[in-house]
Amino acid sequence: MRVFGLIGFPLTHSFSKKYFTEKFENEHIPDCVYELFEVETLRRINFDKLKADNPEVAGFNVTIPHKQNILPLLDRFDSSASLVGAVNVVKKEGEEWVGYNSDYYGFMESLQRFLPTDFKGIKALVLGTGGASKAVEAALHTLDIPYSLVSRTAISGIQNPVLGYDELTSAIIENHQLIINTSPLGMYPNIDTCPALPYQSITSNHFLFDLLYNPAETLFLKKGKAQGAKTQFGLEMLHLQAEKAWEIWNQ
Ligand SMILES: NC(=O)c1ccc[n+]([C@@H]2O[C@H](COP(=O)([O-])OP(=O)(O)OC[C@H]3O[C@@H](n4cnc5c(N)ncnc54)[C@H](OP(=O)(O)O)[C@@H]3O)[C@@H](O)[C@H]2O)c1
Repeated sequence: MRVFGLIGFPLTHSFSKKYFTEKFENEHIPDCVYELFEVETLRRINFDKLKADNPEVAGFNVTIPHKQNILPLLDRFDSSASLVGAVNVVKKEGEEWVGYNSDYYGFMESLQRFLPTDFKGIKALVLGTGGASKAVEAALHTLDIPYSLVSRTAISGIQNPVLGYDELTSAIIENHQLIINTSPLGMYPNIDTCPALPYQSITSNHFLFDLLYNPAETLFLKKGKAQGAKTQFGLEMLHLQAEKAWEIWNQ
């Protein structure tokens, strides 16, 4: 039996458990189980206990609030985890526990499918500076897409300033044809909220990507679509990051 699972807290609504349990059934993958390891504080003793209690664990996902505080407990990282500075997939490789970041791969793949092949020259605005934003930043860096961050806490006077929402002029929106929402604004049940952008400046030349997947069309995407922009929501990324985790565990 190979045991996979998810470490996080709280774990009331786990996409991953449902996804992998259905995958094992539908694809007739034998002797695999996906379990929830609800762990509030990730001290070394807890992690050691988890490993000791579950010798058949082959790998696991990591979610909020442990994507960063698991780093010192791991033996090695692949380039995705190093680039992002956070881990959401762990694989047991021999005696070593190795950290990966499949959000990075999932976002990059979904973005490449969404953008036209001649996207060189496009600039991005990334809304929000949390954990998911770090994976987005790393992917944009890899794809050589220049970007600016937008936050409720603007930081000026540095080489790469972080813009405040009240600084977003029409000229800035026109100059950034790709806008990526990594904030939770618009997520169910708060579907009537959206990032504070001058939406009237969005045109049919724009590409709006929302990491949220519930609802399928957030207010952010709705408003962009009304201006003629192309839109993409986060479900494909969610599936791609899960499939990447499966690939990592089996390679
Ligand atoms: N589709 C996928 O596969 C996928 C993968 C990962 C995450 N996600 C989704 O992405 C979202 C963000 O995840 P996360 O882990 O980055 O969450 P997070 O760490 O809580 O960060 C979200 C960021 O959004 C901004 N923000 C939060 N509340 C806000 C508000 N009321 N108004 C404006 N900005 C606000 C904050 O940035 P500032 O403080 O800089 O404003 C915050 O750091 C979640 O909803 C998650 O479900 C989707």
